Amino acid sequence: MARRKKVYEGKGKVLYEGPEPGTFVQYFKDDATAFNSEKHDVIEGKGVLNNRLSEFFMSGLNAIGVPTHFIKRINMREQLIRQVEMIPLEVVVRNIAAGSFSKRLGIDEGEPLPRPIVEFYYKDDALGDPLVTEEHILAFGWAGQQDLDDMVALALRVNDFLSGVLLGVGIRLVDFKIEIGRIWEGDYMRLVVADEISPDSCRLWDIKTGNRLDKDVFRRDLGDLADAYTEVARRLGVLPQTSAPLGKPTLIN
Ligand code: TMP
Ligand code: ASP
Repeated sequence: MARRKKVYEGKGKVLYEGPEPGTFVQYFKDDATAFNSEKHDVIEGKGVLNNRLSEFFMSGLNAIGVPTHFIKRINMREQLIRQVEMIPLEVVVRNIAAGSFSKRLGIDEGEPLPRPIVEFYYKDDALGDPLVTEEHILAFGWAGQQDLDDMVALALRVNDFLSGVLLGVGIRLVDFKIEIGRIWEGDYMRLVVADEISPDSCRLWDIKTGNRLDKDVFRRDLGDLADAYTEVARRLGVLPQTSAPLGKPTLIN
């Protein structure tokens, strides 16, 4: 089979040219990194789980009219996506204080916030993705005022959807990060959710036990990351019932 052309390789995923113009194939790797790649490991099966979970969340968003880049899953590790022009920002929504927010503002992890708080980080590994304000974004032209308003609205819709779906399976959505891209249709441009939505980019706490079911398990050495992600997938019905043992996914197709 002819080798596909690699377009981009990041820490957790690879993008290949897609079968049609305007599409990419997104491949999920097993690599886990934290603290701007200071910590790195390969977690067997993580890519398979994130591919499935991102498919689950993105197709759910598509179904309720929140546009995403996701078209369809191709196999265990790959999905077909629309090519978008990425906005160089990480958009973080927080419902409960945790992580860098708790450190920066001295608020205990687990403190509920008065309302969801949307933050922007400038995507630049060399700078460690610094927190930026709307002023920086507008002044440097990373996005315009209308884009900013649309990004906040999009992020809050994603928050409502994810919070509800996860609450239904006993999981609290503490915070998450999305990335947003532009799709051009002639002169008309719209913003869509891109990249991935998975436990790599969310904080997910079990409502009963408070157990971490996200990448903090890896960042903070709290246990087996694949087990935590498998638990999320299992609760959401994303894993075939028969697959066992849990930590080593034996997904069909
Ligand atoms: P933070 O508390 O470390 O700023 O993280 C906030 C949320 O963003 C959390 O759900 C994890 C996610 N995140 C990423 O997806 N990628 C990153 O590089 C970082 C730092 C956080
Ligand atoms: N994704 C970032 C890294 O690879 C940081 C993180 O998620 O904690 O270092």
